[in-house]
Amino acid sequence: MDWRNISEPSLRDIMERYRLSKCEIIKVLICLESHFWYLHDAMGRTIIVSNRLPVKVSRDKKGGLRYKPSEGGLATGLGSIYREGDNIWVGWPGIHFDNITEEKEASEKLREENMKPVTLTEQEIELYYEGFSNETLWPTFHYFTQYALYKKSYWQAYEKVNQKFCDEVVAVANTDDTIWLHDYQLFLLPGMIREKLPNVSIGFFLHIPFPSFEVFRLLPWRRQLLDGVLGSDLIGFHTYDDMRHFLSAVSRICFISNQHGQLNKDGRTVEVDSFPMGIDYDKYASSSASPDTLSREVKYRTSLGDQKLMLSIDRLDYSKGIPARLQIFDLFLEKYPQYVGKVSLMMVVVPSRDSVDQYRDLKEEVDLLVGRINGKYGSVNWTPIHYFYRSFPLNDLSAFYRMADVALVTPMRDGMNLVCKEYVASRLDKRGVLILSEMAGASKELSEAIIVNPNDKHQVRDAIKRALEMTEEEQIRHMEIMQATLKKYNIHHWVKLFMDRLVDVFDKQQKMTTKILDDTAQQKLVESFRKSNNKLLFLDYDGTLTAFTPNPREASPDEELHEILDLLAKKENTEVVVISGRDKNTLEEWLGQHNLEFVAEHGVWVKSKDQPWKTSDNLDNSWKEDIRPVLEIYVNKTPGSFIEEKDYSLVWHYRKVETGLGELRSREIISHLKYLAVNMNLQVLEGNMVVEIKNLEVNKGKAAAKWVSTNNLDFILAIGDDATDEDTFKAMPEHAYTIKVGDNRSAARFSMKEPKAVRSLLKQLIEE
Ligand code: UDP
Ligand code: G6P
Repeated sequence: MDWRNISEPSLRDIMERYRLSKCEIIKVLICLESHFWYLHDAMGRTIIVSNRLPVKVSRDKKGGLRYKPSEGGLATGLGSIYREGDNIWVGWPGIHFDNITEEKEASEKLREENMKPVTLTEQEIELYYEGFSNETLWPTFHYFTQYALYKKSYWQAYEKVNQKFCDEVVAVANTDDTIWLHDYQLFLLPGMIREKLPNVSIGFFLHIPFPSFEVFRLLPWRRQLLDGVLGSDLIGFHTYDDMRHFLSAVSRICFISNQHGQLNKDGRTVEVDSFPMGIDYDKYASSSASPDTLSREVKYRTSLGDQKLMLSIDRLDYSKGIPARLQIFDLFLEKYPQYVGKVSLMMVVVPSRDSVDQYRDLKEEVDLLVGRINGKYGSVNWTPIHYFYRSFPLNDLSAFYRMADVALVTPMRDGMNLVCKEYVASRLDKRGVLILSEMAGASKELSEAIIVNPNDKHQVRDAIKRALEMTEEEQIRHMEIMQATLKKYNIHHWVKLFMDRLVDVFDKQQKMTTKILDDTAQQKLVESFRKSNNKLLFLDYDGTLTAFTPNPREASPDEELHEILDLLAKKENTEVVVISGRDKNTLEEWLGQHNLEFVAEHGVWVKSKDQPWKTSDNLDNSWKEDIRPVLEIYVNKTPGSFIEEKDYSLVWHYRKVETGLGELRSREIISHLKYLAVNMNLQVLEGNMVVEIKNLEVNKGKAAAKWVSTNNLDFILAIGDDATDEDTFKAMPEHAYTIKVGDNRSAARFSMKEPKAVRSLLKQLIEE
C-alpha cells in the first residue's frame, strides 16, 4: 500500500478494522511519513485563527477594493503553507467596510482562498486593535512599559472582539477539527472556545516575546489573560526564555505549578514548550534564483554603482530599534571616514499601525534622522541612506537580500525576526554577513551571526566594520552553518513539530481523563456496596479524607471524620484500610481508637486488625544519615521549609515557602539526589508541596496488593488524591472502584472534586 497517498475511505476502513483511534492512526501515518497535511484533511481540518488574515484588503484611489499579502512574520510565515490542505484561516481583513456590498464582495473573494473574514467596526479597530493590542499588550510584552496604556475601555473592547472571534470560529468548527490560534491579540480566545467546544483540540502560539513576570504583572488584567490562554491544550513560544517567563507568571498569578512545562488547569493537562519558528527556506532560495529577481538586481545595482551595501528591513515599530540603528550608522561614518562614499545603508521601513501615536511619532523621528545623516555625509554621487517607506513584493526583497553585503538586524526586542532568516536563505553564493541583535529570538539559533547588544552603540558600530572586512572564507563558513540550520528547521518542520505535539497532548488527555463520579455512577457504586458480602476500602488520608493545611500537624481528624470512620469500620463484612504516607505513630494517635487497618509511610508499615505494626524485614534506613544533611542545606536556604522524618523515609515540605521558590528548590533537590538515590536504592517522589525520599521497593500499591490477594472480595473501593495513590489504583483488580480526588488525570476509573465529596460518599455507604 502507498501510505504517502492513501485515500480517505481506505483510512477510515483501516481505523475501523483495527479499532484505531484518531490519535493512533495519526501516529502510524507520521511514522510512515504519509503527507502531514493530508492527515488533517482526512481526520478533520486545521482552523488557523489570527487577528490579521494573510491577505490585506484596502481601498484604491477609485474606491475599489485591493487585495495584497499582509506584512509581518506571522502572515508571511504561515501564509505560504496553510493552503496545502483543506484548512481555513479566520481573521480580520485589515479594513473597515463602508457598506454591505463591499463586505460581501470581499468575503466572497476571501472565501475562494479558504479565508473567513471577521469584520470589525471602526470603534473596535480603535479600542481593540490599536488600543488594547497595540497600546497595552505590544509595548508591555516588548518591555516598552513607558508606552503602555491601561484603559478599561480598551480592555472591554478586547473582551468583546475576542468573543466575536469565538463566535465566528464556533460557527465553522467541527469537534474533530484542530484549532490553532495565534498571537497576543487573541489571548482570551482559547478559554472562550473551550467553553463552547470542551473537547476540541486547541493550540496557541505567541509570536512576540513573553516578558518576565515583573513586567507582565503590571497589567491590570494579567489574571484574565492567563486564564484565557490556559484554555489551550498546547501553548508554544519562540524561545525557552519566553516559555520560562510564561510559566513563572502562571505559577505566581494563577498559583499553578508545572512539571517540565506540563501543568494542570481545571483538571485538564496543558503543555507549554518552545517551538522556534522557521521560514519557507525553499521559497526564499528559489525566489533568489529566479530570473525576475536577477533582472531586478541588475537594475538596482546599475543605479547604485560600485559600493558596499548594508540592508535593513522592518515594519515601522519602536521595538525594531530603527532610530538607534541610524545613530549607529552615523557613529560608524564618523569613526571610520574611510567608508564615507563606499558603503550605503538601504533601509526598508514598512508602514505599520500608523494611527497609533507612538508609531506616528517614530515616523517623524526616522524621517528627521535619515535627512540629517544624508545631509551630513551625502554628496552628488553618493547617498549614505537609501530610505524606502513602503512595502515591496517578494522579488524585490529577494533582490535586496542578494545585493546586501551586510544585513543589519538590530531590534531592541523581537519575538523571532524572520527577515534575518530570509537574508540567510537568499544568499545562494554563501557570501554576506549577518549582524544580529541578541534581543531577537532568532539569535538563539543563529549563533554564527555577529551577535550584538543593540543598546551598545559602539559595539554595533565596530561590528559593522568587522562585517565589512570579514574574509570570504569566514563569511562562507558562517553562512553554511546558518543555512544548514534554517534548511532543517524550516516552516514545515515547525508546523509538523507543533501539530504532532498537539496530537500527542490530545492523546494523553484522552488516556488520562477519568470520568467524574456523577450521581448515576455513585448510585451504582452504593448499590454494589450494599449487595456485596466481602468489602474492602482503601482510604488515603491527606487531601482525600481531609483538606490540606499549611502545617501537616493541623490536619488532625475532626469530629465528623471520626464519626464516619467509626461507623464505616463497624459495618459488617467491611474492612477499612487507611493507606497513607503519614508515619505510623500519627495514624495510631489520630485514628487508633477505631476498628481500622493501616498502611503507613506509603507501605513501609502495615497494621492488620488486632495485629501489631509490621514491616518488611529487609528495609534499611541507614541511608538517612547521608540524605538528611543534603535536605538540611535546602532548609537553611529556604525559609518556611522543613524536614519530616519518618521511620523509613525523609520528607522535605515546602507548602509555606514563597510561591515559585519552593518549586525551584524542589527541582534542585531532585536533581541533587538523582544519582545518589539510584545508587542507594532509594526513590525520590514529588508529592503535593513535598519531596519524599524512601526505599525503592516500597509503595502503596505493593502494600495494597497483599491485602487484595489474601481476601475473597466482591467489593473494593480505593480513593486517593496524589501521585503515590496511583500505585494503589494500578494494583486494584478491574472490578474495583478507584477514585481520584482533585483532578481527573489518573489511572483511576473515576474522579471527584474534593474531600467533602468523599465524605458524603462514605456517609451514603454507612447508611446502606
Ligand atoms: N516583508 C514583506 N514586505 C516588505 C517587507 C517585509 O512582506 O516590504 C515581510 C518580511 O519578508 C518578513 C516579515 O515581513 O517575512 C517581517 O517579519 P519579522 O518576523 O521580521 O517581523 P514582524 O513584522 O513580524 O515583527
Ligand atoms: C507582528 C505580530 C503579528 C502582526 C504583525 C503585523 O508580527 O506578531 O501578529 O500581524 O506584527 O502587525 P499588524 O498590526 O499590522 O497586524
